[in-house]
Amino acid sequence: MTRKQQLKWWQEARFGMFIHWGLYAIPGKGEWVMYNEHIPVREYEKLAAQFNPVKFNADEWVRLAKAAGMKYIVITAKHHDGFSLFKTEVSPFNIVDATPFGRDVLKELAEACRKEDMKLGFYYSHVREWRDPRAQSFEPKGRPDVWGNYGNFWDYPKESTKNLQDYIDRFDSPQLQELLTNYGDVLTIWFDTPSHITPAQGEQLKKLVHKYQPACLVNSRLSYDVETDYASMGDNEIPAAGKDEPWETAMTCMGAWGYTAGAKCESWEEMLGKLIDIASRGGNFLLNVGPDALGVIPQAAQTELRKMGRWLEHNGKAIYGTSRSPFPADPAWGRITARGKKLYLIVRDALASSVTLAGLRTQVLKCRLLESGKGLSFEQNHDPETDCHVLTIRLPGPAEPFRVVQVDLEAEPSVSARTEPDADGRIILPAHRAELMTSDDNGLRIGPSGVTENWIRTGDKMQWTFETGRAGMYSLTLTIKTGFWKLWDWDHEINAEIDDQIFGVTIADDGRKTVRYEERTLAACRLWLNPGRHVLTLSPEILTSRNTVGLTLLQCSFEPVR
Ligand code: GLC
Repeated sequence: MTRKQQLKWWQEARFGMFIHWGLYAIPGKGEWVMYNEHIPVREYEKLAAQFNPVKFNADEWVRLAKAAGMKYIVITAKHHDGFSLFKTEVSPFNIVDATPFGRDVLKELAEACRKEDMKLGFYYSHVREWRDPRAQSFEPKGRPDVWGNYGNFWDYPKESTKNLQDYIDRFDSPQLQELLTNYGDVLTIWFDTPSHITPAQGEQLKKLVHKYQPACLVNSRLSYDVETDYASMGDNEIPAAGKDEPWETAMTCMGAWGYTAGAKCESWEEMLGKLIDIASRGGNFLLNVGPDALGVIPQAAQTELRKMGRWLEHNGKAIYGTSRSPFPADPAWGRITARGKKLYLIVRDALASSVTLAGLRTQVLKCRLLESGKGLSFEQNHDPETDCHVLTIRLPGPAEPFRVVQVDLEAEPSVSARTEPDADGRIILPAHRAELMTSDDNGLRIGPSGVTENWIRTGDKMQWTFETGRAGMYSLTLTIKTGFWKLWDWDHEINAEIDDQIFGVTIADDGRKTVRYEERTLAACRLWLNPGRHVLTLSPEILTSRNTVGLTLLQCSFEPVR
């Protein structure tokens, strides 16, 4: 299989299991316990003598992944703590030489994967390593906004002891060679936290991976400056807009990535909703489990994953091998995926009695429930005056959430690029579809998850052109989104110019605690809109950036005022 074929397989696979497992499962406080508690290397390594996961069973892990509908597994071969989950000649700090367990987990997992036709990849922390003095680069103090390097500054306070090149040459490289020659075909090396690696060092490691396995995929966390096979989004981050190039969101369903005692597991519906969200944008979902110190994946996670698998058994055609939604915005009732002359409408609300889809120009031949094949009645209307296309499909009585309607078309879908009101008349204007009016490339931009970044200059503006099919009173709202660091800035003063009207909008804080990737919708103004084309321009009067992030706008929305 060539790397191109492997990447195609990976994209069509859509759904994989991430496994974070190691010595940190013993304290059960997540995989960062050594850093969070500044545990000295000499202390932390004592955990190895206690690590005896006698209930580890690779076949059970692989069968669970399969039952969940997952097509590949990525496991932490070596995490930031420097402990290797496999027999390695590079360091005695590994599961075979340093623990009473003494078995090569990756060897057993690779064998179990081969039996179940499950592909296997390895997570590898190539720069951040809290055991080895060469690998560290420690964080700039007191700058929560700056991506720290989060190295072991308690054992190795002197920057001068660091020698990342030597670590790459004499630790990373021989270990990667072992991983790529001793465990059969490797789907991907999943690098993490590139930190201060140089472009040349990134290229060096990519070349090494492809020297031993040319078809092995490399993710974007290898380096910020090296072309890789697919993009890893921020942790738990789902992009707001569909993307054509290959990408993946890694997400944990139980708080931290490594085993955390007492952590709650998300419900299967919540996790399935994320898989559907991600697939509708053309991405892969790498969903993490953290086995405990005995090698058991928490029962709650097993139960919910199996429920996801049951849905995928009946509706997997709407996920595996599909491409992203061809529509410019998500419908209010759910998400859309596509394949050739078919659309899959995934309806979140179990009680919905119909769905409406605006903007589809292609003739619909048939609509049916994917699971039962039951035909559904539908109407497809086109208003030549406004060139509005509306498809309405009636749904049978109440059912499970996430019903899938398969829509057979006479050709591949042709969709209006216009921003259309959705079935509820809402007009959503995502930031990623705005025209940015900036004087140079150093200002306002749209980040990977579709949120404005670096909007700190009042001269930078955003503009949307949109249509309204119906006259009426609308309420304009702005949705701000926080990022990984839960940060946002407020007390902005914005002029919202709609056609020839100007409304002053203040974006103020309401004192609530912010959480990671949180969306906050703020009412801006109310106004009357006549049918036809309109232009919305946001031009800031005042922008603040006390938290350095400026105005992080996800979207504007005109909601009809009933
Ligand atoms: C972050 C964490 C790391 C985890 C990774 C998973 O980089 O530092 O512990 O393995 O996310 O995506």
